[in-house]
Amino acid sequence: MNYNKKTVKDIDVAGKKVLLRCDFNVPQDKATGAITDDKRIRAALPTIQYLLEQNAAVIACSHLGKPKGEWKESLTLAPVAKRLSELLGKDVIFAKDIVGEDAKAKAAALQPGQIMLLENLRFDKREEKNDPEFAKELASMAEVYVSDAFGTVHRAHASTAGVAAYLPAVSGFLIGKELEIMGKALEDPARPFVAVLGGAKVSDKINVINNLLEKADTIIIGGGMAYTFKKAQGHTIGKSLLEEDKLDYAKEMMAKAEAKGVKFLLPTDHLCAAEFSKDAAPVATGEDIPDDLMGMDIGSKTTEAFSAAVKGAGTVVWNGPMGVFEFPAFAEGTKAMAKALAESGAVTIVGGGDSAAAVEQLGFGDKMTHISTGGGASLEFLEGKELPGVACLLDK
Ligand code: 3PG
Repeated sequence: MNYNKKTVKDIDVAGKKVLLRCDFNVPQDKATGAITDDKRIRAALPTIQYLLEQNAAVIACSHLGKPKGEWKESLTLAPVAKRLSELLGKDVIFAKDIVGEDAKAKAAALQPGQIMLLENLRFDKREEKNDPEFAKELASMAEVYVSDAFGTVHRAHASTAGVAAYLPAVSGFLIGKELEIMGKALEDPARPFVAVLGGAKVSDKINVINNLLEKADTIIIGGGMAYTFKKAQGHTIGKSLLEEDKLDYAKEMMAKAEAKGVKFLLPTDHLCAAEFSKDAAPVATGEDIPDDLMGMDIGSKTTEAFSAAVKGAGTVVWNGPMGVFEFPAFAEGTKAMAKALAESGAVTIVGGGDSAAAVEQLGFGDKMTHISTGGGASLEFLEGKELPGVACLLDK
């Protein structure tokens, strides 16, 4: 996969109409619809501000939630237009449709230095089908396509990939940064290269482990997925999460790591509970977990060993928490890893989704080199998959 793509700096946008794909898929309060975290809107500001300073006329677009081709008032992008306008300190013209009369009239009248936002792309079922006619209609409003929606680069949709067939396509600064930092980590990392993988399920990380076994010097496995590996090693895991059908895969991965000389670290002690509850009393165990307990976090010896492995690293990529960090009594392992990364002096990259949330929630957000804005996208990046929203951009 070629990560060396043209950016907004490599193309003349002055006086031009620019279709800008953003990832404004922000979390909202279910009852009031209020935006509960505007990080994704803020993350798009550098590219928007640059385009406006260059005197481009910006036609921004995004999806929000999963309306599945239906018009849903609760998923309108109107609140995003309002928040974006507050953050930019300027008017954001809002189109009531996507490629309909209102959007087309407003796009035609848009002046250099002005910005508008189209309504939720996924209100039109042709978006997710990557319908060429829909892509063409979107493209017809603009002269240049800029993609800055890293969170959706793993989707081959009309606005994330299809439009590039009709317009010169470059990345914004957000995708540019993601490609530069994560691309370098995968292609030419400062070594030792340590990958820390966690989260509930082995099945979510199969291709990530496969790909990283080819690249990393050390792989650390924590979180719910670790128990399947412990069982595969012959240990008892009590009531812990187990993916029975992944036991052979776990054995295969451990054998592959050994053959390749990749260090493969698993927990050697655990913090357990009798039930999956915030109020459950933590019980420390050794390597084997008794029948009546389930693993909820890594133990103190494991925390020390994992932290030591991160300490001397040149690059650390982290995806997935070490335990049930949402419950304070079982957040210590995840917290300790965040701290170890923060103090490591290594290039530290945190994959989006849960691990990004954990790092932010535990107060280490500004201590990391890079926190990816993509959940599924950053995982597919680590899998080494071709990302349609990146592949469609012009090469440098
Ligand atoms: C995300 O929130 O990860 C992106 O916006 C992609 O959303 P999707 O999973 O609905 O395509």
